[in-house]
Amino acid sequence: MSAITNLTRMWLTRSRKPFLFTGEFDEQLPFEECEQLGLYVHIPFCRSICSFCPYCKVLYSRELCDRYLDALLKEIHLVGGQSHHKKTVTSLYFGGGTPALAAECLSEIIEALEQYFIIKEGIGIELHPEDVTISLLQQLKNAGVTRISIGIQSFLEKYQALLGRRSIDLSSMSHALKAVPFETVSMDFIFALPGQTFTDLKTDIDTAFGHGANHIAIYPFIDFTFTASPLPAMKKKEKRRLLNEVTKYCLKQGFMRTSIWTFSSQKGAKYSSMTRDNFLGFGCSAATLLKEQFKINTFSVEAYCRRIDHRQPPTSLTLRFSLRQRMVYYLFWTAYSTKINEADFERFFNVPLKRMYGLELAAAKLLGLVTEKNGIYRMTLKGAFYYHYYESFYTLAYIDKMWGIMRREAFPGQIEL
Ligand SMILES: C[S@@+](CC[C@H](N)C(=O)[O-])C[C@H]1O[C@@H](n2cnc3c(N)ncnc32)[C@H](O)[C@@H]1O
Ligand code: SF4
Repeated sequence: MSAITNLTRMWLTRSRKPFLFTGEFDEQLPFEECEQLGLYVHIPFCRSICSFCPYCKVLYSRELCDRYLDALLKEIHLVGGQSHHKKTVTSLYFGGGTPALAAECLSEIIEALEQYFIIKEGIGIELHPEDVTISLLQQLKNAGVTRISIGIQSFLEKYQALLGRRSIDLSSMSHALKAVPFETVSMDFIFALPGQTFTDLKTDIDTAFGHGANHIAIYPFIDFTFTASPLPAMKKKEKRRLLNEVTKYCLKQGFMRTSIWTFSSQKGAKYSSMTRDNFLGFGCSAATLLKEQFKINTFSVEAYCRRIDHRQPPTSLTLRFSLRQRMVYYLFWTAYSTKINEADFERFFNVPLKRMYGLELAAAKLLGLVTEKNGIYRMTLKGAFYYHYYESFYTLAYIDKMWGIMRREAFPGQIEL
């Protein structure tokens, strides 16, 4: 598997040089020059831990959470204070973990960020189904949240049991969603669970749109090697059939495909913390992507707090991109939105996309993976499947390895991918 990702990387970056992450870091982050900058804040606490979940999280304790939030505010001031004027950013997303466990401090965190940033396109937060109560939603709304994303996984009891999750009180959830409206109400599902059929997924999709959602995300199940999940992976052919059936069903219902995994029933309903040209991440495990570097904070809550106490960035690893590496990174994540615009690429890199990747794009067109009109490349159904398929390789070869190490070591020193 890693042979495929290595060869693809060498071919696309035209170099044998791996993605090299080292322990050295910059005190000053050059984010002022970045356009289309997004903000991300990670809150790593959960009421209980799900066996399948790869994210950086720990069991909630009031004492640890309070200490963490103090450190988080200090990191915001440490980084934000580096800019000479208020920087306009696209959006702010809170992820986790279960960020609602810090709901009381959300206003304080947002106010701290707003000292340095002007947030143009709203504020999003991930919620656990148990968080969806009128009082909590009202608290979020008062703090300025405009988009929520609820981790349903599946409404069906058999899959909830498989994932070790409790069943969802649908009527109280939809009552709360009606009482406190948000611009975007997204619901997350996991697909390709053992035995899952199109009818199961159709039930989930219909239930979501029938009970307050105007956006859904359907993530393929990924069996990370370091999680305790005993679930077997679905076969490629079956996965492809399922993904195609779901996509066709959503399009037939008139939903818009807003990215590889997401569909919305209303224009303007969107939820994505991933497809940004650049982003600044705060909190443990949060990643930062700038024009020439990618950095990732330590996964250890204790180590995070200690670094901040010493007024040092909590950066665990930094990757300094070669130009081609940055291009590949850009194209990979932009393709997640199912389209790539030549003009945007040229604006970002000052060089025409066709000059850098003309051959690959022509081949992708010939193979029926993309179509092109007026300089915009759109993925076909076949292209979306292969993107998804390759993304699973990438996740297992790169993210699995990196997160696996970072969960064990706060500062691993060096990782080559
Ligand atoms: C941080 S969680 C969501 C918020 C909340 N903590 C919850 O559990 O409801 C983000 C989403 O990632 C997805 N996810 C988690 N583990 C996954 C896995 N192993 N494979 C695919 N998707 C996964 C789930 O859909 C989950 O809702
Ligand atoms: S899926 Fe959500 S609740 Fe479960 S451990 Fe992961 S972040 Fe926490």
